[in-house]
Amino acid sequence: MKEHVSIEREEDVYMAVAVARRMMLGMALDEMQQQMVLVSVAELTRNVVVHANGSGEFTCEILSGEIQITVTDGGPGFPDLLQDVLRADGVSSSRGLGLGLAGVQRLMDTFSIQTSEKGSKIVASKRESLGRKKAAGTRSP
Ligand SMILES: Nc1ncnc2c1ncn2[C@@H]1O[C@H](COP(=O)(O)OP(=O)(O)O)[C@@H](O)[C@H]1O
Ligand SMILES: [Mg+2]
Repeated sequence: MKEHVSIEREEDVYMAVAVARRMMLGMALDEMQQQMVLVSVAELTRNVVVHANGSGEFTCEILSGEIQITVTDGGPGFPDLLQDVLRADGVSSSRGLGLGLAGVQRLMDTFSIQTSEKGSKIVASKRESLGRKKAAGTRSP
């Protein structure tokens, strides 16, 4: 199962969050783990709007036992201080929920960035917890 949302402006951030929320229904992720994924989706897609000229795409895929989120953009790429950004304590500069990339790295189980002056690609995933009951499949109207 795989879905895409193109990311150009603020509303697309919420669309991406909604898609991720829906795709996690039925996965063995508890409420806190789901929130960690949703915050990560919001941070990464908002970065496309704020830092990459709003030219990106969000992809959410359910693989065996994990959810994988991929955010690509055609922006200017990350500045050289990327390593500092990722080592930060998780307090980011301005907009967003304030967790930033360091927060995403902490909240997800895997995290990788590829970046060049032609754009960036971030892939992150969260695994289902073994032994945890599948979330009740309640769906809002
Ligand atoms: N998609 C992106 N393309 C280019 N640079 C980015 C992108 N996302 C983030 N950055 C750069 O990395 C920095 C840190 O991002 P982040 O941790 O989300 O904090 P914030 O967005 O609050 O500045 C940004 O200030 C920006 O310079
Ligand atoms: Mg940010």
